[in-house]
Amino acid sequence: MLAKRLATLAPSATLAVQARAKELKRQGIDVISFGAGEPDFDTPQRVKDAAMEAMRQGQTKYTEVGGIPELRAAVCAKFKCDNGLGYEPADILISCGAKHTLYNIAVALLDPGDEVIVPAPYWVSYPEQVRLLGAVPVFVPTREATGFDLDPDSIASAVTAKTKLIVLNSPNNPTGAVFSPATLEAVARIAVERKLLVVSDECYEALTFEGRHVSIASYGPEIKARTIVVNTCSKAYAMTGWRIGFAAGPRAIVKAMTDVQSQVTSNPSSIAQWAAVEALSGPQDEVAKMAGEFDRRRRLIIDGLNALPGVSCVMPKGAFYAFANVSGLFGKRRQGGAPLTGSADVASFLLDDARVAVVPGADFGSDAHIRMSYATSAPLIREGLTRMAAALKTLG
Ligand SMILES: Cc1ncc(COP(=O)(O)O)c(C=O)c1O
Repeated sequence: MLAKRLATLAPSATLAVQARAKELKRQGIDVISFGAGEPDFDTPQRVKDAAMEAMRQGQTKYTEVGGIPELRAAVCAKFKCDNGLGYEPADILISCGAKHTLYNIAVALLDPGDEVIVPAPYWVSYPEQVRLLGAVPVFVPTREATGFDLDPDSIASAVTAKTKLIVLNSPNNPTGAVFSPATLEAVARIAVERKLLVVSDECYEALTFEGRHVSIASYGPEIKARTIVVNTCSKAYAMTGWRIGFAAGPRAIVKAMTDVQSQVTSNPSSIAQWAAVEALSGPQDEVAKMAGEFDRRRRLIIDGLNALPGVSCVMPKGAFYAFANVSGLFGKRRQGGAPLTGSADVASFLLDDARVAVVPGADFGSDAHIRMSYATSAPLIREGLTRMAAALKTLG
């Protein structure tokens, strides 16, 4: 009955963990969830006020498919101010979250059989979206020893006559890597020389704690003309539910993406768009406050993880995830049970025996790891680590 393309579609693993943890909570079981991919802060009041004002003013109708001019202008100002990138409103598309932006890009650019280079570990939706269109994700590993930085040589070796796109994500979900300027510049050279397009997912830009966020599109006009920069209001402004993501790129590609969107969803919510204008254009103090809090939690969780036997974790430089190596636990046995053999086993063990929810790294392309979001309070992080330590002592 279902289309053949559904045969390989994996539902979002991260959303599945959240759902399982929520279900256990509903049953009265006290689970600490490190599964969330969203800030635990509330949307700033000024943003909510802007949405209410928009409704009061009757901004409740269809808008331009690509977004209201005020928001596209605010996005242009953001790219200029934060990234030194000059765009005009016609180079911008507003969509229902960056996930939707990325899917618009995939529909607009990918034919069956096209290859897309995806550095691994990767965010779960990249390969799934690529496969849905009959294109082929080609995974290029990054190494833990370099803090999961990009490896330009491996990327160059993965390019074939079928390669169309390279997808970059810095700061990175799940590893927390902030790609170094030198590797980004090297990848920019590869893309220009081999005539490839680049999708640069910069959704966690505001949460860069070490190093400097640089958009690959800022390495000159040639790479800018081949790059689609993707960003979102979700993470910087704690607006995951409002569903506003945006892209900037070559006008012909942005127009094609807009045409796709015009047939699939039309404009994102008019009210959320007005809220996003305020988010991007108003005072930015809450962003720095949130980032400061995430930075404190980052140190707390990484120090705690590194103190656990059989667990190690490189210090993430951005985003809000710890990508902990748990391969030191493989071969150990649960009481009366089988040995742990992979990240899914470790995640089930932690949920059952520590009442702690984490996401198996296998879903992000590394079975040696688990992903823990530290978008949760410091006391809960401490309690979660204490529970993990107690559960690990029971392994034989
Ligand atoms: C790397 C990355 N890109 C894009 C998104 C999508 O964000 P949204 O659709 O909420 O804008 C996420 C969300 O978790 C993400 O982690």
